[in-house]
Amino acid sequence: MANRLSNSPIGIFDSGIGGLTVAQAIVELLPNEDIIYFGDTAHLPYGDKSPDSIRYYALKICKYFIDAGCKAIVIACNSAASVAAYDILDFYGNDLLIINVVDPLVQEVVNSDVRKVGVIATTATTDSNVYPEQINKYRPRLDVVSMATPLLVPMIEENIVHNEVSRVILKNYLEDTRLKNIDALLLACTHYPLIKNEIAELLPEQVHILDSSETTAEHLRNELQHRTLLNDKKRKTNVFNVSQYHPTFEKITALFFGNEVHLQEVDIWGEHQWPQGEKSNTQ
Ligand code: DGL
Repeated sequence: MANRLSNSPIGIFDSGIGGLTVAQAIVELLPNEDIIYFGDTAHLPYGDKSPDSIRYYALKICKYFIDAGCKAIVIACNSAASVAAYDILDFYGNDLLIINVVDPLVQEVVNSDVRKVGVIATTATTDSNVYPEQINKYRPRLDVVSMATPLLVPMIEENIVHNEVSRVILKNYLEDTRLKNIDALLLACTHYPLIKNEIAELLPEQVHILDSSETTAEHLRNELQHRTLLNDKKRKTNVFNVSQYHPTFEKITALFFGNEVHLQEVDIWGEHQWPQGEKSNTQ
């Protein structure tokens, strides 16, 4: 941690645009901080990938942030945090501060007075069982039901939102009997705050809808403050990178961050190792 300076950037990553909801909360709360955002669009969605694949992508991205001189990394993806947070901490926890989106959201639920919580997330996150396990560790009697909603990420990435199609898909998920009588719904995927209003329209008014963007930004501020790593003067502009250029990504990033956005495709994977006997189809 010694080589990291307070004016070093913060690396934030997700498979796609979802992590922008977290990045936006961070930029709003900590306007002096420089961020490097990485959307792993070449491997999107993470939610239907194996834990091993997600771990591999996440560790590569963290290495890229370390090489870029980041002082902190925010895993702004529940799927990556669910399956790779411990590995990332193991590999890089001594080098820099590592924050994820699961822990602050778990704490928010644990500190609330809700009795039945619904968790909607990707298949990778629900399969990991991280939310029920973590919440029940502190509140064993709290009823936590988690449900995979795999159509939502592709729908949001393709900007099929706020229309009849998205409404039918959401209604189908939210009317699932498992979510009956919940008093809070966790948006346990960083893409979902982008359709928070649509979700709210389909839920009874008394259901609290919680997501991790603001709590993660606050958690990051506290940890940086604790380590005297807060930047007191902004020096550069924010950087937005993807592993595969996608015009919708650029459009949506610009909606979040305006003129600041210069989306760039970068190759962080290095030389690709083909399995023995197989050839690249580009050869
Ligand atoms: N936004 C991510 C998450 O929080 C990833 C979704 C995906 O790529 O499937 O889980």
